[in-house]
Amino acid sequence: MTSDPDTGSLQSAPAKRGAGQGGCVPRHVAIIMDGNGRWAKARGLPRTEGHRHGLEALRGAIRHARERGIGYVTVYSFSSENWSRPPTEVSFLMGLLRRFVQRDLSELHQANIRVRIIGSREGLEPGIRGLLDESEALTRGNTGMTLIVAFNYGARDEIVRAMRQLAQDVAAGRLDPDALAEGDVTAALDTSDIPDPDLIIRTSGEQRLSNFLLWQAAYAEFYFSPVLWPDFDAAAFDAALDAFAARERRFGAVSATGG
Ligand code: IPE
Ligand code: IPE
Ligand code: MG
Repeated sequence: MTSDPDTGSLQSAPAKRGAGQGGCVPRHVAIIMDGNGRWAKARGLPRTEGHRHGLEALRGAIRHARERGIGYVTVYSFSSENWSRPPTEVSFLMGLLRRFVQRDLSELHQANIRVRIIGSREGLEPGIRGLLDESEALTRGNTGMTLIVAFNYGARDEIVRAMRQLAQDVAAGRLDPDALAEGDVTAALDTSDIPDPDLIIRTSGEQRLSNFLLWQAAYAEFYFSPVLWPDFDAAAFDAALDAFAARERRFGAVSATGG
C-alpha cells in the first residue's frame, strides 16, 4: 500500500494478493461499527473518545477496502434508535459526521469514491442535510469504490418509507397490486442502486443486526469479530475477508461441488 499512515491518504496501490485475497473478494461488505463506548470505558475515557478513535478506524477501513478491490462498503454510523442516547453523545456524533464530511470529502472525491447516504433525512438539522446532499452530489460521477454511509438509518423505517411510496403508487394507479414483485420493493428502498451485501461484519462481539439492512441481508454471510471498532485494523478486516472466502454460499440450491 502506498498510502501514508501519517496523512491518512486514501490513495492506494492496485490490489495485491495476500491475506484477504483468497479466491473470492466480496463485492459488497457492510459493517456494523460497534464497541466505541466499551473501548473508551476500558481506558477510563469518555464514550466520545471512543467515537473519535472510531472515526480513525473508519478511515483505515475505507483505505483497506479499496486496496482489496471491494466495490461497495456500507458503514452503520448512526441508527434511528441511537437518538435515545444522552443528548451530549448524540450531538457529539452529529459533530463527528460534520467533521468527517468537511475534512474527508475532498479526499474521498480525489480517490474516485462515490458516496451514498442511506437513512431518513427527516428530523436532521438543515446543516447536516446540506452536507449529506453535497457529499452525494460532488461524488455522483465517481467510478471507484462506493461508500454507503447509513446515517439516521433503521431498516424498519426504510421499509415503512418504501411501503408508503408503493401504496401511493397503487392509489395513483401507477402500480397494479397484483403485479407487485420483489423488484418493486427493492427499487423503493434507499439502496435501490446498490447490490445486496455479500458479507456483514459486526465488531465488538455482539451478534445481532440492530435494525441494519433487514431486507438486503437475505443471503449475506455474517462475520462477528470480537475486536472493538476503534481497534479494527487491516489484519482484523483481512480475517473477516478470509472467513468469507472459505464460506460456501448456496442461495437455496445444492452445493456446486455436488456435496
Ligand atoms: C458504535 O459504538 C458507534 C455507534 C453506535 C454510534 P457504541 O457507541 O455502540 O459502543 P458500545 O456498544 O457502547 O461499546
Ligand atoms: C448499532 O449499534 C448501530 C451502529 C453501530 C451505528 P448499537 O450499539 O446502537 O446497537 P445495540 O443497541 O447494541 O443493539
Ligand atoms: Mg454499541
